[in-house]
Amino acid sequence: MPTIHVIQADGSRRELDAPEGASVMQVATGAGMQGIVGECGGSAMCATCHVYVDDAWADRLPAPLATELEMLECTASERLPTSRLSCQIKMTAALDGIVLRLPATQQ
Ligand code: FES
Repeated sequence: MPTIHVIQADGSRRELDAPEGASVMQVATGAGMQGIVGECGGSAMCATCHVYVDDAWADRLPAPLATELEMLECTASERLPTSRLSCQIKMTAALDGIVLRLPATQQ
């Protein structure tokens, strides 16, 4: 099963087992992880699932759709070039080991 590595703003780390096809947000909220809320249920309407994708992984993700790009304009924390909505990242075997960082406002 693919693994997600999450680094909180305070530097603490957590590994999550991620079934293929599940979104990162679903995996994180299912594991009770603080910092990813997923208020809208994954429809790219809230930005409470904002993450920074590690540089080494950012180019391996499919490009964001227009709805995701629009919502990334509304993040509580600074938007960076590697910002994504974790509800829009679907786990696949190719993403095994992906590294994500959480914004400081999401703890
Ligand atoms: S869960 Fe709302 S935008 Fe991702």
